[in-house]
Amino acid sequence: MRIFLLFLTALAPLAAQQTRYLSDAVCQTCHPDIWEKFNRNAHFKIIVSPKPVQKTFGCESCHGPGIDHPKDPRIKANINRIEGRAANQVLDACLACHAKDFTRSNIRRSAHSTNDVVCTNCHSIHASPAPKYLLAKQQKELCYSCHLEAKAQFNMPFRHRVNEGAIVCTDCHNPHGTFNPTWRGGARPRLVADSFGNDEACVKCHTDKRGPFVYEHPPMRIEGCEACHSPHGSTNPRLLKRPALFTMCLECHTDVAGFGRGGFGEPAPITSFHRLEQPKFQNCVTCHVRIHGSNTNRLFQR
Ligand code: HEC
Ligand code: HEC
Ligand code: HEC
Ligand code: HEC
Ligand code: HEC
Ligand code: HEC
Ligand code: HEC
Ligand code: HEC
Ligand code: HEC
Ligand code: HEC
Repeated sequence: MRIFLLFLTALAPLAAQQTRYLSDAVCQTCHPDIWEKFNRNAHFKIIVSPKPVQKTFGCESCHGPGIDHPKDPRIKANINRIEGRAANQVLDACLACHAKDFTRSNIRRSAHSTNDVVCTNCHSIHASPAPKYLLAKQQKELCYSCHLEAKAQFNMPFRHRVNEGAIVCTDCHNPHGTFNPTWRGGARPRLVADSFGNDEACVKCHTDKRGPFVYEHPPMRIEGCEACHSPHGSTNPRLLKRPALFTMCLECHTDVAGFGRGGFGEPAPITSFHRLEQPKFQNCVTCHVRIHGSNTNRLFQR
């Protein structure tokens, strides 16, 4: 009996809280336009849920308890429109249910969250024009609306075909945040998504570059593909960072002949055998053909 009473006392505040909620049927009477479209929203699930617990009060699970709102709808404090609130409040409102979706994304520490770009900047719950994910705009336009520099890069002569619709930003980025798949990412996080758990997004499509190789070229995993490629677009074929290939290689493989082998993790200096003034030696990959890694040759020559 005592235990039962204790149980009731514990429930009392929750019950009081519950009575502050109206119901979807009430919201419906004054907001028929929103209600009519809502059955096509992924969030309709929370309305038809059989369990009216704290987190699933239909309309009010996002907008908060609505008891005072109909009394004077002009008082903004009586109902939470979410959009337009402080970044943290938006995050709290949406993550109440979605936190578990983002356990692999570090969402609160992402470059977007820390710069006050939050859920409602990219998603529109009631008026999304996109076919999927309630996006506020089609994905390409959405991202370009804030990232003009990327738009210019995807117009370069050599590029990933984002503008043509062959690939989207979220093939490589997670706008919700990431844990960095490469060492470089630790120092220079750019919301680059991971694939297969701890590889860069690139190898999801370019699977032949994934390895593991018997002879790995360390920058593949340490600096990541960006050590040599400009991932969005480039004026150089193969999206290479530099027009003259050897200058790129020499950024790491300094040609200080006779300097000897570098220490642990240091790039090997190229030997005097390489006569860099001769054009034949300038296109390094004519000989070091397996530049991404090899299973048979330490110097990536086959
Ligand atoms: C008696 C009619 C009525 C009922 C019932 C009602 N609303 Fe409203 N609601 C309004 C009106 C009118 C406005 C517009 C107020 C304005 O623009 O100043 C509004 C505005 C809103 C807004 C936007 C507030 C803002 O900050 O701009 C939200 C969100 C909202 N209602 C949600 C709800 C929810 C959820 C329910 C059910 C719990 C509900 N309403 C029930 C009449 C109602
Ligand atoms: C998943 C969270 C969520 C649910 C569930 C939800 N809303 Fe909203 N609602 C929002 C957000 C966020 C906005 C701000 C505008 C937007 O994103 O579309 C909003 C805006 C509104 C507005 C203001 C009109 C406007 O376009 O700014 C009204 C009214 C409203 N909601 C009513 C409702 C009603 C009625 C329901 C239940 C059928 C409901 N909402 C369910 C998140 C939600
Ligand atoms: C009461 C819990 C709850 C809250 C609060 C909530 N959501 Fe959801 N959300 C859901 C559920 C349930 C789904 C459907 C998931 C499924 O189908 O597996 C969903 C799906 C989504 C989707 C995917 C839609 C699609 O087409 O697949 C997006 C985007 C989304 N929510 C954004 C938001 C945003 C932004 C907010 C804050 C304004 C928010 N949610 C608040 C429960 C919630
Ligand atoms: C910078 C823009 C941006 C922000 C900020 C953002 N999203 Fe998204 N979200 C997207 C895009 C783009 C997609 C579609 C991803 C795809 O096409 O694979 C998406 C997809 C989703 C999905 C469905 C797919 C999935 O990954 O589970 C949910 C749920 C979701 N977002 C919820 C949220 C919530 C909740 C917040 C805030 C805590 C939020 N989003 C913040 C851009 C954003
Ligand atoms: C409302 C504006 C806005 C939208 C929409 C937006 N972003 Fe951002 N994004 C920002 C801001 C602000 C930052 C942080 C400042 C910066 O680095 O430019 C940022 C940072 C980033 C970064 C990391 C850059 C860095 O320096 O670490 C990437 C990558 C990115 N956004 C990709 C996207 C993608 C992909 C989309 C579309 C799904 C998108 N953004 C949509 C505003 C936006
Ligand atoms: C092919 C994969 C890929 C695609 C597609 C892609 N990105 Fe990126 N993006 C990257 C990588 C990798 C980086 C990190 C580059 C670095 O650190 O040097 C990056 C960096 C960025 C940055 C930071 C730039 C800087 O110099 O700090 C922004 C912003 C960005 N991307 C936005 C976008 C937007 C917007 C889209 C879609 C229109 C997009 N990206 C599509 C791979 C991609
Ligand atoms: C969603 C799949 C996908 C992802 C992820 C992806 N790529 Fe690509 N990539 C392609 C396709 C498809 C092409 C073919 C060229 C085209 O679209 O015109 C391509 C072309 C390239 C090329 C030029 C190849 C040539 O022969 O000229 C390079 C280099 C490249 N990608 C590097 C990368 C890097 C680096 C990343 C990660 C930052 C990446 N890719 C992520 C699909 C992808
Ligand atoms: C050490 C520099 C370097 C790194 C790091 C690097 N690449 Fe490359 N990549 C090159 C060079 C050089 C070429 C041009 C080869 C040629 O022209 O024969 C190339 C060519 C390519 C091509 C087109 C030709 C082919 O072999 O398919 C793709 C795709 C590619 N790289 C993807 C990637 C991906 C994905 C990563 C990261 C996992 C990566 N690269 C990392 C130097 C690099
Ligand atoms: C970001 C730095 C970086 C870039 C750029 C780079 N490398 Fe390397 N490379 C390394 C490191 C580190 C090693 C490992 C050296 C060791 O094991 O002692 C290595 C190893 C090698 C080896 C094998 C040497 C050995 O003794 O095992 C060859 C061959 C090589 N690189 C060629 C190239 C070529 C050709 C390019 C240009 C396409 C290039 N590298 C670009 C960092 C780089
Ligand atoms: C004509 C073929 C050829 C070209 C072109 C070439 N290499 Fe080599 N490279 C070799 C051979 C053979 C070796 C092994 C013999 C030696 O080291 O003297 C080698 C060895 C290396 C080593 C390993 C040195 C060591 O002993 O650890 C590096 C690093 C290297 N090359 C980088 C480069 C770079 C960077 C370029 C472009 C500037 C380049 N190579 C162009 C044939 C070539």
